[in-house]
Amino acid sequence: MNHCITLLHQLSEHGKLARTEYLHLLAHRKAIAETAMELAREVRRKYYGTDVYIRGLIEVSNICKNDCTYCGIRKSNQNVNRYRLNAEQILSCCRAGYRLGFRTFVMQGGEDGSFTDEFLCPLLRQIKTEFPDCAITLSLGERSSESYRLLREAGADRYLLRHEACNEALYRKLHPETMLHENRMRCLRDLRELGYQVGAGFMVGAPFQTVEDLADELCFLQDFRPQMVGIGPFLPHHDTPFCDYESGSADLTVFLLALIRLMLPNVLLPSTTALNSVVPDGRIRGLQAGANVVMPNLSPEDTRQLYQLYDNKKSSGLESAEEMQKLKESFAAYGYHIVTARGDFRDCPPKKP
Ligand code: 5AD
Repeated sequence: MNHCITLLHQLSEHGKLARTEYLHLLAHRKAIAETAMELAREVRRKYYGTDVYIRGLIEVSNICKNDCTYCGIRKSNQNVNRYRLNAEQILSCCRAGYRLGFRTFVMQGGEDGSFTDEFLCPLLRQIKTEFPDCAITLSLGERSSESYRLLREAGADRYLLRHEACNEALYRKLHPETMLHENRMRCLRDLRELGYQVGAGFMVGAPFQTVEDLADELCFLQDFRPQMVGIGPFLPHHDTPFCDYESGSADLTVFLLALIRLMLPNVLLPSTTALNSVVPDGRIRGLQAGANVVMPNLSPEDTRQLYQLYDNKKSSGLESAEEMQKLKESFAAYGYHIVTARGDFRDCPPKKP
C-alpha cells in the first residue's frame, strides 16, 4: 500500500514506471484508487485549472471496410442502416457547433472508401476558411502516409487513431487478418512526423485483455507519449462475435485515466461516451479522475442512433449539443468550467509553476 503511494508519486514526477510497477499498482487498485484519483486531480488542476475542453463530434459515416470483432459497424454486420454525410451536411454540423461555442470539430467515421483525399481536402479547406479559429480533428482510421500528408496540408490539425492493443497477439484477436498491427503503428508514427497532435488509446476490458496487457498499454503510452489518449470500457454489441462478453469496468477505466494523467500531465484526456454509457455518472467520474475533455455529439439527430459501435450508447439528453447549457450546469456543480478555446496540446503549460 505504502509502496503503491510511492509509485504513484514517482509516476507523477518522472512520467514513467516499470512494467512490474504498473502490475503492482493494478493488483492493489481498489486500495489506492481514491489516492490515485486525488493525485490525478491535483496534476490536472495544476495544468488546466478547472477547464474542460469541448470537442464537437461529427459522426460522418458508419460505412466501414473493416471487420473489427468488437465493433457494431463492422463490415459484416448486415443489420446496420448505413449512412454517409455529404460535405454540405458536415458543414452545417460545423456551423451549428460554432454557434454553440465549439472551436474543435472532430470528424469521426468508419473506413469509408468514399472519403477520398479528393473529397476530404476541399472540405477541410472550406471548414478552415469559414472557421479559421477552429481546430479540425480527424478520426477516419488507417490511411496511406501520402493521404495523411495531404489532409494535414489541407488543414487537419489532430488525428485520433486508437492503437487498440500494443500487444500484437491481442491485436489479432480483436481484428480481422487484413488488419496489421504493424500498419497501425506505422500510421501513428506517420501522423506524429507530419505534425499532427496525435491521439492513441484502447478499450478497457476488451475480450481476451489481461492485466498484463493493461500494464503493456501503460508502457506503450509512456514511451509514445501521445498528445491525446482515448480510453473507454469495452461494451458489447449484439450483432458482433463479442456479443456475449461482459462490459469493461467503469472503476478500472477511471483508475487508468488517473494513471494516465499522472504519467502525461498535460495530455488531452477525454471522458468518453463509452464510459458515460456504462455508468450514468461516467462523464463526471472521468473528469474527477483527471480527464479534461468531453466530446458532445454534433451529428444530425437521425444519424446518431445509426452510429452504434456498441449497445446502449448514450446519445440523447446531455450527449446532444442542444443540451449545452445543462452540460455546463452539471459541470459547474462539480467545479468544472467549459472553455471554448481550441485547446491545442501546445497551448497548455502548467497554470502555475
Ligand atoms: N465498445 C467500446 N468501444 C468501442 N470502440 C469500437 N467498438 C467498441 C465497443 N464495442 C472504440 C474503438 C474505436 C473507437 C472509435 O471506439 O476503440 O477506436
